[in-house]
Amino acid sequence: MVAESKTTASKTFLGHIYTPVEKGSNLDLPEGFLSVDENGKISAVGKRKDFLPGADEQVVDLGKSLLLPGFVDMHIHLPQVAQTGRSGEHLLAWLEKYIFPAEMKFEDVDFAEKLSYWFFDELLRNGTTTACVFTTIHKTSCDRAFSVAEKVGNRVIMGKVLMDENCPDSLKESHQQSIEESLALFEKWHDRDNGRLKYAFTPRFAVTSSRELLKGVGEAWAASAGSYLHTHLAESRGEVDLVRELFPEARSYVDVYKMNGLFGTNTVFAHSIHLDDNDLAELKRHDCSLAHCPSSNFFLKSGIFAFERIKESGIRFGLGSDVAAGPEMSMFQVMKDANYIQPSHWLTPADLFYRATLGGARALGLSQQIGSLEAGKDADFIIVDPTNRNAIANDMLEKETEDILSSLVFLGDDRCVEATYIRGREVFSKKNFSKAY
Ligand code: GUN
Ligand code: ZN
Repeated sequence: MVAESKTTASKTFLGHIYTPVEKGSNLDLPEGFLSVDENGKISAVGKRKDFLPGADEQVVDLGKSLLLPGFVDMHIHLPQVAQTGRSGEHLLAWLEKYIFPAEMKFEDVDFAEKLSYWFFDELLRNGTTTACVFTTIHKTSCDRAFSVAEKVGNRVIMGKVLMDENCPDSLKESHQQSIEESLALFEKWHDRDNGRLKYAFTPRFAVTSSRELLKGVGEAWAASAGSYLHTHLAESRGEVDLVRELFPEARSYVDVYKMNGLFGTNTVFAHSIHLDDNDLAELKRHDCSLAHCPSSNFFLKSGIFAFERIKESGIRFGLGSDVAAGPEMSMFQVMKDANYIQPSHWLTPADLFYRATLGGARALGLSQQIGSLEAGKDADFIIVDPTNRNAIANDMLEKETEDILSSLVFLGDDRCVEATYIRGREVFSKKNFSKAY
C-alpha cells in the first residue's frame, strides 16, 4: 500500500480511492493514485502527491470520480434475467409458474447465447466484476455461456444445473448424465484464462435432487480440484418442510448436504435463512460459505437472514442479487436491501460495502486476487460518480467519505457506474455501451 517510484506500471488512475483492506481499517484516499502493470495487477496504491510517473506511463485523471473495487455477486441465475419482476408467489410456486418455463428455453443454444451476452454485459454495466452463476440443466447452453463470458471478459464461477426429481420432465435428467456432463464442463472450463473462469457443481437444491444425485455430485466435486459446490439452502419455510418430508433420515436441511458430501471449503450456500444454532456450528466447523440475498428474500417473502448472528459465528459470507428472485442486478440495491430487511438492526455503509466486495471475495476463497484495491491483487475496479443520481448533490464528493459512502449505498444504482475494469482492462464504459438483447 505504500507509494513508491514505479517504472513497470503501464497505466495509472488518479482519483478518489476507497477500499476495504485485508488487514486494518479501510483505505480512503480522496486524492489518490492506483497503478496497474502490464499483467493487469495493481502495482501500487497511494496518495497522489507520492506518485512518480515512469517515462512512458499513461495517466488517466478521473477528476472527482471514485475508484472502488468491483462488486462480487455471490449468487445469480443467468437464464432468469428476462424474468425479473414476476411477483405474487412464494418460492416453490414461483419456480413452477415463472422459472421452470423460462429455463426450458435454454434448450435452444442460440437463444442461450443471445441472453448470455445480455447477462454478462449487464453485470459489467452494474459494476459487478465477479459473479457465481447458475445456468440450466442444458450442457451445450452452459458451454456457450462460458464462451460468452470468456469473450466479454467477466470473472465467473459457473456451472450447469443438476436436477433429477420434482421438476418438469423436460428439465429432468438421469443423475449419471447430469454428473458426467458436469465433469466434462469442469474439464473444459475450470481455471480457463489463468483462473478467470471457474467451475461450480450446481445441484439446484435438495428438493430437485435424488440421494443418488447428491452423492454423485459430492464425489465429482471432491475429485475436481479447485471447483466449487453452489446450491440453495433453507430459503423458504415451504421448502424446508418439503425437505424434511423428502429426507426423513436427516436431522436438518444442512444435514442432507453434509451426509452426501456437499460440505466444506469452496461451497456457496445461497440464502441459508431457516437454520438453527446446530446448523450454524456445522457450517462454521466445515468452513462453508454463504450467499446472503436480501433483495430476493424481500421479493419472495422468504424470511430474514440472521446477519449479526452469522457474522458473530465467523462463517464467511457475502451478498448475492439472486436475479430473478432478486429484481435487480445492481449490488447497490442489494446492499441497501441488506440493511432494510433487518427489522431492528442497522448495518453500516462500510460493512455493507465490505460484504459486496472483499467479504464476498473471502467467502469465495479469492481474496488473494480480488475484493480490494491492494498492490499485488488483480486490477478489478469500477469508476463511480454518485452525482449521476439527481438525488445526490453535486458537491457530495467534497464531503467526508462516510457521507459519500452512505449516499452511494442508500441512493446509488447502475447509473452511477461510469466504467468497469477487470485485470486492468476496460470491459465496460458508459460512453460506448449499447444493449445486446
Ligand atoms: N431454489 C431452487 N431454485 C431456485 C431459484 O431458481 N431461485 C431461488 N431464489 N431459489 C431457488
Ligand atoms: Zn437462487
